[in-house]
Amino acid sequence: MRIELLAAAARHPAARPGGAPALQPLDLQVAEGEHLAVIGPSGAGKTTLLQLLACTLPPSQGQLRLGDTDPWQLPRRQLQALRGRLFLAPQVPPLPPRQRVVTAVLAGRLPAMGLWESLASLFRPTLLEPAWQALRQFDLEDKLFERVDRLSGGERQRIGLARALLAPARLWLVDEPLSALDPTRSKQAIGALVGQARQRGVTLVTTLHQVDVALAHFPRIVGLRDGALAFDLPTAEVSPERLARLYAQREDELHGALPLAAPEGRETPPPAVMHCR
Ligand SMILES: Nc1ncnc2c1ncn2[C@@H]1O[C@H](COP(=O)(O)OP(=O)(O)OP(=O)(O)O)[C@@H](O)[C@H]1O
Ligand SMILES: [Mg+2]
Repeated sequence: MRIELLAAAARHPAARPGGAPALQPLDLQVAEGEHLAVIGPSGAGKTTLLQLLACTLPPSQGQLRLGDTDPWQLPRRQLQALRGRLFLAPQVPPLPPRQRVVTAVLAGRLPAMGLWESLASLFRPTLLEPAWQALRQFDLEDKLFERVDRLSGGERQRIGLARALLAPARLWLVDEPLSALDPTRSKQAIGALVGQARQRGVTLVTTLHQVDVALAHFPRIVGLRDGALAFDLPTAEVSPERLARLYAQREDELHGALPLAAPEGRETPPPAVMHCR
């Protein structure tokens, strides 16, 4: 799904009146099937940008276009239908505690199901094979019938990602998919996510704190700071100087982002900035 933001800004309903918007007016074009990572220090507006693209937060000014439509001009039912064609993975997936993993993963398919089918799936999970396949991508196939509240935070996060593979969506919006994962799991999970998105020709926008992961897996990087667009560049043009400016006075957030694995023969991996071109 093609995305276009035209001088679009965003303000949260609960924001302090008169304060700066969470997202200043910005232009952004993302082609169908393109992948991009959004980086920037905490509070930069990364999640807000995803909410704007997911049509859960209307632009406070400017315009969002998805494909050929302005979602906020659509009648309510059509807006709901459009939201069903987007997949938003929040940082902490909202999983009912007593639910089985299989049901939680199949919930990704709900927008494609009729009412009766979706109600029936709560009691008798159908589509076991696709659920198992989706979990397998994230190394969780042995958890198919486990209860969600018996899983670790990292396992729940990966279930949130596995849901995308069942969703009838052409746009995946993924917020901090690796925040609860260790480096080995992070590498496996981001590889699976990006690989599956590429195979399906899905448009993928992911926010990431791990700058090294963003540079390694995404061809285009958007940098946000203080709610404003700092840069929007092909990965090869994201220099250490740019990253240093993006994270100025917040260096701990950049230097905390170490490479996923130390290169052969090196004990301590250098900071991500050393890996930038
Ligand atoms: N629900 C909300 N109500 C009011 N203000 C909000 C809300 N959510 C976010 N904000 C404000 O919007 C700004 C951007 O927040 P956002 O969550 O988009 O940042 P972020 O880049 O995702 O940060 P992080 O890396 O910590 O997740 C912040 O100043 C934040 O305080
Ligand atoms: Mg966030």
